[in-house]
Amino acid sequence: MASRIIPVDPFDLVVFGGTGDLARRKILPALFRRYCAGQMQDGTRIIGAARAEYDTEGYRAFVHDELVEFAGPAAQDAEQVAGFLDILDYVAIDADGEQGWSELSQMLSEERVRAFYFSVGPELFGGLAERLHRHGMAHGESRIVVEKPFGHDQATARRLNETLAEHFEEVQIYRIDHYLGKETVQNLMAIRFGNMLFEPLWNSQYVDHIQITVAETVGVAGRGDYYDNAGAMRDMVQNHLMQLLCLIAMEPPSKFDPDALRDEKLKVIRALDPAGQDDIVLGQYRADATRPGYHEDVGDPDSTTESFAALRLQISNWRWAGTPIYVRTGKRLRARKSEIAVVFKETPHSIFGPEAGRHRNILTIRLQPNEGIDLDMTIKEPGPGGMRLVDVPLDMTFAKALGPDAEDVPDAYERLIMDVIRGNQTLFMRDDEVEAAWAWIDPAIVECNKRGQPPLPYDAGSSGPEEALALMHRDGRRWREIKP
Ligand code: BG6
Repeated sequence: MASRIIPVDPFDLVVFGGTGDLARRKILPALFRRYCAGQMQDGTRIIGAARAEYDTEGYRAFVHDELVEFAGPAAQDAEQVAGFLDILDYVAIDADGEQGWSELSQMLSEERVRAFYFSVGPELFGGLAERLHRHGMAHGESRIVVEKPFGHDQATARRLNETLAEHFEEVQIYRIDHYLGKETVQNLMAIRFGNMLFEPLWNSQYVDHIQITVAETVGVAGRGDYYDNAGAMRDMVQNHLMQLLCLIAMEPPSKFDPDALRDEKLKVIRALDPAGQDDIVLGQYRADATRPGYHEDVGDPDSTTESFAALRLQISNWRWAGTPIYVRTGKRLRARKSEIAVVFKETPHSIFGPEAGRHRNILTIRLQPNEGIDLDMTIKEPGPGGMRLVDVPLDMTFAKALGPDAEDVPDAYERLIMDVIRGNQTLFMRDDEVEAAWAWIDPAIVECNKRGQPPLPYDAGSSGPEEALALMHRDGRRWREIKP
């Protein structure tokens, strides 16, 4: 299977925060890989913009070193690296002052797509948008890309939306949730709406419950300042998990188009019941023999920020009434594993009698690692000895089924940045969607705070606090194992 590269017309991309962590680790390597794939035409320019006083050569040398560290094997190809560095420029700019702005506007061409990536803290978004506007860079084919955190709650998200809207139209604003750029997350839509098999069963009549797990082994060291102020609810649930939930639960949009899709996602968020105290378990990881605990990682022995959250959600609409959706995410868990499991109901009656046991189909969509899908099917256990039933997975690991191209899937940022250049907002969040997600999560956080208890401690390398298991046990269900 050959991957299809659609070249894009030459464009200008300005990366504000061009020397920062996200630019170094994700944005520049992603652009480099797209360059290597042949997607950028002659004349394309990428301009780093930051406070540091680099000249163009100095910036190229800086990016060279970062590519070696973060761009993987492609960075061994000296010719490609040199070619990519050649399209880089740099401008020293003051995001909340006047230095560098006229220079930047003179560097850009009127005739082509211009994208401005705000890879900076949200407190700078407003100032950047205003200066771009004032210096004549906000019109026509200009787009801005903004990263999370998009606000700290509904009120701050709304203010951010209003500020950006003073200078840019909604069609020019690309709010990134990098989960939407992941190949398997998009595959969710292909599986649901490209097959006849599942959609007729995709409702509360046939689905017992759904589990969404995003487990990480990393802790929060190195980003404690940000994380301690956010916690798992704001850092992961409000955005990434909410997006997964929307894609798994939404009605089929009439077409794969930005507003049709986002309208359907929005309806899911708006149909979520408010979460009560009993529906949420928060946790915080302990130290183990070799790794520090959460308190040491953020440098605050009294921190009550959660590094784990498990929730029981209910969508109140015709499709899902009565089918709970359990979601959980956490740091420093047993394995890095993200998956969605759709657990179907048992057959209404077993013709094989009670000794054959009860069985159910489970469709598991593995987001990472080892992307693919599994469908647990019930079959007869081979051999004599009566009708014994056993559940076996029909395993489709994409790399096995689709060959080497499936192993070399583009990073989420590669796809999303090129979508910005093409002007495709399908995989970006709309203003109302972000605000609706906050409108749901704000009261949930208030409910947790009302308990007046710190998050429950859990062991590093475990599956989270015991109470998260109880969240499902009390409904007669259990979480799937988080195992490597
Ligand atoms: C980020 C969160 O948005 O997503 C991080 O801020 C988290 O805390 C990361 O680790 C997870 O992304 P991925 O792509 O590694 O699953």
